[in-house]
Formats: sequence, C-alpha cells, structure tokens
Amino acid sequence: MKNLVVLCLGICLSSVSFAADMANGKALSAQCSTCHGKNGLSKDPEAPNLAGLSSLYIEKALVDYKKGMRQDRRMSLIAQGLSKPQIKDLAAWYSAFELTVKVPEI
Ligand code: HEC
Repeated sequence: MKNLVVLCLGICLSSVSFAADMANGKALSAQCSTCHGKNGLSKDPEAPNLAGLSSLYIEKALVDYKKGMRQDRRMSLIAQGLSKPQIKDLAAWYSAFELTVKVPEI
C-alpha cells in the first residue's frame, strides 16, 4: 500500500511538471509586455504580436532563439535567460489569448 502511494505520488508529480503553468506564464510575461504589449498586441513596430499564436509556434521560436538557430539582438538575449518549463508556461499564456479580427473591406 505504501509503495502504491509512493508510486502514485511519483506519477502525479511528474505529470504536473510536464503541464504548462499558465499563471506562471502570466507572471513571466511582465518582462515581455514592454515590447509585445500587455494584451499580446505589440507596441514596438519591430516586435510581432504574440496574442493567439499557437503554443507550438511560440515555444519553437523561443527555443530557436535560445539555441541560436534564430537570431535577434533582443530576443536571443531574453531567451537565453528562460528555462524550458518557463518557455512552455509563456507559450501556454500567450496562446490562450482570444482575438477578434476585422478583415478590411475593399
Ligand atoms: C526589447 C523588446 C522585446 C522584449 C522585452 C521581448 N521581445 Fe520578443 N520579440 C521582440 C522583437 C523585436 C521580435 C522580432 C525579432 C525577429 O525579427 O526575429 C520578437 C520576437 C518574438 C517571438 C517570435 C514571434 C514570431 O512571430 O515569430 C516570440 C515568440 C517572442 N518574441 C516572445 C517573447 C517573450 C515570451 C518575451 C518575454 C519573456 C519577449 N518576447 C520579450 C522584442 C522583444
């Protein structure tokens, strides 16, 4: 019985560590908002909008900056300071934003 509890605890904890923590992503995003906007819509003309991008895309972009496969003087530096779990949390946060889009009429 004791072993079962220990086993369950192990499985439960490991699954928790794989799940993205959106609240942590929100907290971490404070450092991103100067350029990418608090609502994920960029204020800086050189920085893209992050709101509503897929978590896979955000995660890949950040990992690429971190590993040097994608380079930008600002993002490369920022991504260096992020751990893999932090990248997942940030990706979960920004991908959860919902957008409404108005297509121009021409
Ligand atoms: C100093 C301004 C600045 C800050 C702060 C900043 N970024 Fe960026 N970010 C940029 C710029 C500029 C680009 C476009 C770089 C390029 O051309 O590759 C970018 C690109 C990105 C991209 C790629 C988006 C795409 O469409 O390909 C992601 C994802 C991203 N940033 C996430 C973040 C996250 C998460 C944070 C906070 C941890 C952050 N950024 C903080 C300026 C910033």
